[in-house]
Amino acid sequence: MRVLITGGAGFIGSYLSEAYIERGDEVWVIDDLSTGSLDNVQSLLHHARFHFVNDTVLNREALLELTGTCDVIVHLAAAVGVRLIIEDPLKSIHTNVVGTELVLELANKFRKKTFIASTSEVYGRNSKVPLHEDDLRIYGSTVLARWSYAATKAMDEFLALAYFRTKRLPVVIARLFNTVGPRQTGRYGMVVPRFVSQALRNDPITVYGDGTQTRTFTYVGDVVRGIMALVDEPRATGEIFNIGGEEEITINELAARVKAVAASSSPIEHIPYSEAYQEGFEDMERRVPDIGKIKRLVGYRNTYDLDAILAKVVEYERTR
Ligand SMILES: NC(=O)c1ccc[n+]([C@@H]2O[C@H](COP(=O)([O-])OP(=O)(O)OC[C@H]3O[C@@H](n4cnc5c(N)ncnc54)[C@H](O)[C@@H]3O)[C@@H](O)[C@H]2O)c1
Repeated sequence: MRVLITGGAGFIGSYLSEAYIERGDEVWVIDDLSTGSLDNVQSLLHHARFHFVNDTVLNREALLELTGTCDVIVHLAAAVGVRLIIEDPLKSIHTNVVGTELVLELANKFRKKTFIASTSEVYGRNSKVPLHEDDLRIYGSTVLARWSYAATKAMDEFLALAYFRTKRLPVVIARLFNTVGPRQTGRYGMVVPRFVSQALRNDPITVYGDGTQTRTFTYVGDVVRGIMALVDEPRATGEIFNIGGEEEITINELAARVKAVAASSSPIEHIPYSEAYQEGFEDMERRVPDIGKIKRLVGYRNTYDLDAILAKVVEYERTR
């Protein structure tokens, strides 16, 4: 199979590229290296079945040629990370809405199956446990730029479903919950790599807010298997799936676990959201997925618990 991965030099995309190459597929990546890096795909760059294009998905000509060449499209390219969204909302909105619309328009032109990466942020402030795919989206004011990420990804979902319903374009959508593993960068506000690098430097581990907010964490390799299974499964077409971890943990507990796994002497400190991000910043209290739907359809399961994931991230950050 010939697979086009947009954002394939990013954290998740690089693991997905490796997995498709390992399976014997041919991979084309288009990535503008805005948050991704060639280091992530270093081991693939000279592989005969791997092709890298350093360009933006907003470049119609480049995307047109690649879409015509490939059999399926996995669309991961996006402005990711709360910090990035707050710092450059205009670019983020443009990439996430116009970029996805172009991907879908060209996929439809060539009738290519398309996977769209969405996010648990789409649920907004809905703290119901666990969150089911049909649950409500609850957002704060548009005055707060952080909500634009959730809104753009929700618009991506609406667009993809509209292409499915009106043009019969085969699409599948997954809402990824916090995905972690080596290669993820802490630069844009991702909590695990940020805590791990603070712990390894024995600097204060900085928890935003009071730390009682909870999350789940999934190993990137599990997410990649989930994405590939959904792309391969015809019955997934036109559907939305949660992919995420099942172990709910407070951010305070996460900081303590990182500290222990890294054998660090870091103190754990709390920083108000207003200082970490912006005045009036709103966070979700709990975010736990119901992953029954993807389990039932493709037999998805999480194979790494949090300590095993943290050990991998610590080992990776130590050798960097
Ligand atoms: N990591 C998570 O926890 C998580 C959670 C929910 C959803 N997601 C989604 O998964 C996808 C991949 O995220 P990730 O964690 O690997 O982040 P990432 O930042 O590592 O990957 C995004 C990639 O897209 C590239 N990119 C950005 N704008 C582009 C453009 N205009 N043209 C071409 N390439 C562009 C970046 O350079 C990067 O390589 C994203 O769509 C993100 O919204 C990730």
